[in-house]
Amino acid sequence: MRDFSVLEHLAGQLNPLCRVLEMDPATPLDLLAGVLGPHGARSLADPPAWPSDIADDHSPIEFSVAFNDHEPPALRLLAEVPGGAQAGYDFLAGAAGRYGLAIARLDAVRDLFTADVPPGSFALWCSLVFRSGRRPEFKVYLNPEVAGVDRAPELVAEALGRLGLGDSYRTMLARSIRPGELGRRDRLSFFALDLHDGPQARVKLYLSHHDADAADAARAAAVVPGVDPAEVTAFCLAAGGPGRFDGRPLVGSYTLAGGARQPVGYSIYVPIRDYVDDDREARDRVAAVLARYGFGTALLHRCVAAVSRRPLAAGVGLIAHVSLRLGPPRPGVTVYLSAEAYQVTPPRSVWVPAA
Ligand code: TRP
Repeated sequence: MRDFSVLEHLAGQLNPLCRVLEMDPATPLDLLAGVLGPHGARSLADPPAWPSDIADDHSPIEFSVAFNDHEPPALRLLAEVPGGAQAGYDFLAGAAGRYGLAIARLDAVRDLFTADVPPGSFALWCSLVFRSGRRPEFKVYLNPEVAGVDRAPELVAEALGRLGLGDSYRTMLARSIRPGELGRRDRLSFFALDLHDGPQARVKLYLSHHDADAADAARAAAVVPGVDPAEVTAFCLAAGGPGRFDGRPLVGSYTLAGGARQPVGYSIYVPIRDYVDDDREARDRVAAVLARYGFGTALLHRCVAAVSRRPLAAGVGLIAHVSLRLGPPRPGVTVYLSAEAYQVTPPRSVWVPAA
């Protein structure tokens, strides 16, 4: 078989994804090459130079498709610039002028999130969002636990204080953490900033709920005005199935806005890959979820076909997460697709042909 490079593999998925979503692939492909840098030319036969935690197989990219209630779907790339945080900041500095990024808020907090990270962890991830006919939007994810799990709450408090968002953080912590579980089963996992100045520029704070059930997530969501906890429960059940989530954790994110005493938006992320046998089951569940929220499923099938390089029943994890976004700015459902550049996780159920 021909020996593909990292960039060839990922571009070979991004290009058809753009076509399916009726977007010009030129800018997305250009940014993909920029994120990868010299790493893009590496052969996939060699182990990843930088073992990113973005995906289970250490691919530095994860695709996602955001189905929106009131506008066409968006395409997103979650990316880690190989080589560590400094390489990531260099990439952003290069993109800042070209794409009009607003980095003042990042500059205001970045010193807090720049310890040397242990292997298997991260310091800086980027998300690139493409909407048809618009300039790409950038978002960064910082790691609240860079200086250790115990220091995460004070670090986030300091960062949000600097950004004038301390009030809604305190409300959120008081009502979303299970008693005594902060830094234990409830963890502050990501601190995300939009790199633009618009009225919708957001800070998002993510909580991972380990060993939780749908009711725990619903309780944690209830702090956000306008969010119906029953909807969160129903989504966890539909995407993840019944019972406790004792594999990868349920994750909730809170959108914080200046001047509000409570968070203004909430999303719940279900790591569906730990709760299905294979990707055919994941695909069927996600199709049912999309239908339930009024989205057609044909687009899902075409997006999955653009990314997958194998029969869906032959592995698990191509569909990594599915999330429900509630409240402003953009309600909808997002489906996360793994690049599987290096590896496919075998399915849990093995089909044995009859003798
Ligand atoms: N791969 C990591 C995980 O599964 C990080 C990650 C990538 C993630 N995409 C995500 C976490 C979407 C939550 C939601 O935890």
